Parts: sequence; structure tokens; C-alpha cells
Amino acid sequence: MEPKVVVTQPFPGQRPGTSGLRKKVKVFQEPGYLENFVQAIFDTQKELGGGVLVVGGDGRYYNRTAIQTILRQAAANGIAKVLVGRGGILSTPACSHAIRKHGAQGGIVLSASHNPGGPDEDFGIKFNAANGGPAPESVTEAIYQRTQKIDRYRTLEAGDLDLDHLGASQLGKMAVQVIDPVADYADLMGTLFDFEAIRHLFAGGQFRMKFDAMSAVTGPYAVEIIENRLGAPPGTVMNGTPLEDFGGHHPDPNLAHAQELVALCQGTEGLDFGAASDGDGDRNMILGRDFFVTPSDSLAVMAANAHLIPGYAEGIVGVARSMPTSQAADRVAERLGIGCYETPTGWKFFGNLLDAGRITLCGEESFGSGSDHVREKDGLWAVLFWLNLLAARQESVGDIVRDHWRRYGRNFYTRHDYEAVDAQAAAGLMDHLRVLLPTLTGTRLGAYKVSYADDFAYIDPVDASRSEGQGIRIGLEGGSRLVFRLSGTGTQGATLRLYLESYEADPARHDQETQAALAPLILIANDLAQIQERTGRAQPDVIT
Ligand code: G1P
Ligand code: ZN
Repeated sequence: MEPKVVVTQPFPGQRPGTSGLRKKVKVFQEPGYLENFVQAIFDTQKELGGGVLVVGGDGRYYNRTAIQTILRQAAANGIAKVLVGRGGILSTPACSHAIRKHGAQGGIVLSASHNPGGPDEDFGIKFNAANGGPAPESVTEAIYQRTQKIDRYRTLEAGDLDLDHLGASQLGKMAVQVIDPVADYADLMGTLFDFEAIRHLFAGGQFRMKFDAMSAVTGPYAVEIIENRLGAPPGTVMNGTPLEDFGGHHPDPNLAHAQELVALCQGTEGLDFGAASDGDGDRNMILGRDFFVTPSDSLAVMAANAHLIPGYAEGIVGVARSMPTSQAADRVAERLGIGCYETPTGWKFFGNLLDAGRITLCGEESFGSGSDHVREKDGLWAVLFWLNLLAARQESVGDIVRDHWRRYGRNFYTRHDYEAVDAQAAAGLMDHLRVLLPTLTGTRLGAYKVSYADDFAYIDPVDASRSEGQGIRIGLEGGSRLVFRLSGTGTQGATLRLYLESYEADPARHDQETQAALAPLILIANDLAQIQERTGRAQPDVIT
């Protein structure tokens, strides 16, 4: 097995987006495409040489092929040891945990998260650093720069390794260890949550829940934790077998894509608790009977109730949310007298705050929440947090959230996505808004006075790195906001995201329907950004 050097040429545009490099499978199948990116990781991340690397993915189409390619390249690039999940499987949070637990120098996650999978769908690759978290911008930028100059990659002439059985093997000089993808992660969850109390909840026989793994990576994790360790009845986990094409669905836990679960939670016979996770296991959706918990509210409720959970009983040091996420968590942080941070979209921006011990909990409106237990958002963790909360408070999901609104006020919140929009039209719309920005502060938009309007820039409080152009924020008097940004994860044209938020202190007005409560803001936003004129779209494709 001799290392060989293959002559290659750069592919334009191998720039990682919000969470890694994400393209159609067909693009990744172009000769050298994956290899170039992987070589760029090894060329720039020198500490991987002689070190330990964790590799795993969400099991989507091309996962196994990509892992074998990466293993051969790792061996040829002097990596000492690779830990790979059995069957090539590791959920994103489990991969983060494995990196941390084994003191690895980094990890490679193969996933396109919640995007569909299959030969004609999406694939992705992401580098995680030694802290277990997504690489910071400085690292992804260095990798990108390298991909644009690359002229050769190293690999090994060798066949495929057996990844389906636990144990050690050798690839050239490199050791390969196939690890159980579930066990360590399940143990970690057992240290954070009151499994005994949750077991009681199920043992009573009254409490009814389903977890929808959406035919994606969390199936085996959820069966082991929720059914085996917590004693929920068999069948509690639905769509629990990971499929390469996710059964043809979007493995995205939201009201649009998890309709089967949503229906099970409706009506007098509805489940007490419904939850779902996405393709790679880092997102979550939380439902009660006839009740949807917005991810922004979920973060706020978690922060307010963390003391009830064993892993956080000592209190939390601070919270962070991505800029477009509603300000509900800010109100909790204020009352608790703890730190509160607003970061750009993308989990990587939480890494420094978590590492520096400035925050314990963090979350994004895009169905992501997590804590300092790993450095990724964590879908099942959020589900277990809620289960623990239900066991501790012995109240329904809806009652817990309504009680939260009474105490803190309600931040009505929605996100409107316009997908696969013409890229130029979308860029033009953002430019148009940027031109307007300096004229807005102090003026009126409908009934609202503008208190600030800017293109969000973030200075990391830990390392002072600066990230510009992170989305347009228009703050309105009374706590309402309009936010516009272009997606960094789409693989087709541009996706425009419009985020709307309004604050309501009066409990008598908390029962309004969300879209109705936000209707005036929706009109203002559409008008201001000229969405219909510029994109040709009268309606968003997805409302969450
Ligand atoms: C989306 C979400 C963002 C999340 C990312 C990865 O990115 O909006 O919050 O971190 O997916 O899951 P976007 O497509 O908006 O760039
Ligand atoms: Zn994901």
C-alpha cells in the first residue's frame, strides 16, 4: 500500500457556507472534487499530522464512499489514527462528543443536515476542530484558499475497509478504530438528565409521546435512549431506520416537513409530546398536544427552567442566540442576571463563548439548541431536556410555555423562506435594503418607529475576530424586529430568509395566531424589501 500523489486542479467555489461545503451529490462525484477539499483540510490543519481524527456522517447516499476516500487520504497524509462510527454513522453531536472524549485533533462530518439525500440530492462535508465544534471562519477561509490553489492530493492505493464491525484495523501506517456510534453519546445524556424521573413518566402509562427520526441518523440513538434506557414503549421512535434517501423526504423537523408527527399531536386524542430531529441529528422540533414550541421560545424556556435539570442544577452562566432568533431568551437572561450574546447565524459562532465558559446554553431559530456538553447543536439533547422538564414540572408542554409567556411576555415569531430565488435578484434585494439602511433610523414604518437599522457585524468577545454582512436588522420600538438575510446552506439559486418578531406583554393577547399577530410586520417587510417585484414571488415557500 504505497501512498501516491495525484495531480489535480482547483474547482472554483469550494467555499464552505454556514455549516460546511454543501453541494449536489453529482458535484461531489466529479473526480477530485471531494479529494481536493479533504487535501485542503490536511494541508492547512497541520496538527492532524500524527494526530487522531474522528470521521462519521449521517448515513445519506455517498456517505460510505466518501468515508473510504477520506480514510485513504488520511493514511497518505500521516494521520496516526482515525476513529470512525460503525457503518460510517455518527450524528453531528455524537461526533462532537467523540472528538472531545478521545482528545482528537479534529473531525470530519459528512452531512448535508436537513437537506434531502440520494443520488440527485445533497451531500456535504464539514471540518470540526479539536474542541468538537465547527471550524471558525478563519479556518474555513484557510481551507477555501487552499482549495483554490491546490495542484495535487495524496492518497493510498488500497481497497475499502470493513466499517460494519467494531474493532481495530490498519490502513498503511494508520490505525483505524470502528467505534460504537451510540453508546458514548447515550452515556453522556445519562449524566445530564434525570433518567429515573423520565422512566417514571413513561412507567405511569398515561404519558404518550412519539419521536420522529425522519429516517435519518437519530433512529438508533433514539431507540437506545428513549426506548431501551428510558423504557418508552417500542414504537415510540417512528421512522427509526436510517435510509440513504431519508425515504424521499426532507429530514427537516418543522411544521412543513414533519406533518405525520404534527397530525399525531392534534386533537383531544393527540399525543402529550412529539419531537423530531433532522438528517444529522443536530436539530429538534418540540410539540405538545395542539401546541408547537418555537425554537426561540424553547431556548428561553430551557434557560428559565435549567435549574430543574440535574446537569444544569448549579445554574447557567449565560445564554447566546443567533441574531435572527427571537429575543425571548434575552428577557430570561436579564431576569437571571446572566450574560446574553447575539451572534451571527451558524453554530460555529457559539464555540468561543462555550470554550471560554461565558455561556451554558445557546440556540438558533432554525430548530437548533444546545449546551456546553458538546460543541454542536444537539437534537436529542433538546428532546431529553424537554422530557426531563415535563417529568419535573408535571405540566403539559402548552401549559409550561403559556406560563413562561405570562412571566416574561410573548415574542411572536415567524420565518418566511423564499427558496431557489434567482441569485442576482436576491443580491439586488439585499443591496436595495443596504442603501435604505442609513435613512431608516427614527423614521416610521407603518405604526412602528425604527430604533435602529444595520447590516449586522459581530466582534467575537473572546478572540476579537470580526464578521461582517451577517444580515439586515431593523429594530422597531417596543421590541419588534425585521431581519433579512440570504441563506448560506442552500444548493440552488439563493434562499431569502425573512424573520419577523413582535413583543406582546399583555397575557390577554397571547393567544393570537402567529401569522395574524405578525401580519402588519409581514406587510411592512414585503413592501420595504420589494420582495414580490424583485423575486417574482407573492408568497414564501416555507413558513416556520
Ligand atoms: C441554516 C440556519 C442556521 C443553521 C444552519 C445549519 O443556515 O438558518 O441557523 O445554523 O442552517 O443548520 P442558512 O441556510 O440560514 O445559512
Ligand atoms: Zn443538521
